[in-house]
Amino acid sequence: MNNSKLPFTEFETHRVRLLRYSARFAHDAFSWYSDEEVMKWAGPDFHKTIDDTLLFIKNVTEASAEGKMLFWAVQDKLSHKVIGDISLCPDMKHRYASAGTFLKQSFWQQGIMTEAMQPILWFAFNKLNLNRIEAQIYTEHLASIKLYKKLGFKKEGTLRQNFLIDDTFKNSIMYSLLKKEFKMRNSWSEMVF
Ligand SMILES: CC(C)(COP(=O)(O)OP(=O)(O)OC[C@H]1O[C@@H](n2cnc3c(N)ncnc32)[C@H](O)[C@@H]1OP(=O)(O)O)[C@@H](O)C(=O)NCCC(=O)NCCS
Repeated sequence: MNNSKLPFTEFETHRVRLLRYSARFAHDAFSWYSDEEVMKWAGPDFHKTIDDTLLFIKNVTEASAEGKMLFWAVQDKLSHKVIGDISLCPDMKHRYASAGTFLKQSFWQQGIMTEAMQPILWFAFNKLNLNRIEAQIYTEHLASIKLYKKLGFKKEGTLRQNFLIDDTFKNSIMYSLLKKEFKMRNSWSEMVF
């Protein structure tokens, strides 16, 4: 399988739907991409206006169409609002992907991302046939470290000063999960239309 022919599936878990991203989610997405607390560990590029979010969505949907990434909007089933997103950037030659996750602050620490990541990891290992998912996390980013540990990711090592944030070089930690290590924690279903 090469990157330009990546499959894509939408999913439903107990509390959220994982949907294909589109510009109709821009207002919801702006609420966390403009929140400095959410964007604290993602570099300085938080969004100042809705146009920043619209441009961001245009770029990621184009990158998705070209097979460079897969991007899911996380929709709260109760309110129908989009409350976060999950990205995978795969390298099909070496059969691994890097993962990214964002969640609106008012939904933090309720197990939402642990739940939402289950079908994504299953999809990555079973539909994309990847062998490894990795996440690079700043050493101080406790929430993300705990999330990936809870998902079963293992710590590999420290990357020294590989990010420049606010004029300071920061270390990050590489975490990874292999296909043979993945254990499902919640139930979910594929969305059928
Ligand atoms: C990282 C993030 C996606 C976690 O999502 P979440 O839905 O709150 O995570 P969960 O509720 O599923 O929690 C998973 C584990 O992490 C812990 N955790 C989550 N946020 C935490 C925090 N702020 N402080 C301490 N522990 C935290 C939870 O308690 C849970 O562990 P436990 O069950 O052993 O107690 C969310 O904090 C976020 O969007 N942060 C800002 C964006 C970001 O930095 N993304 C990652 C870039 S690398």
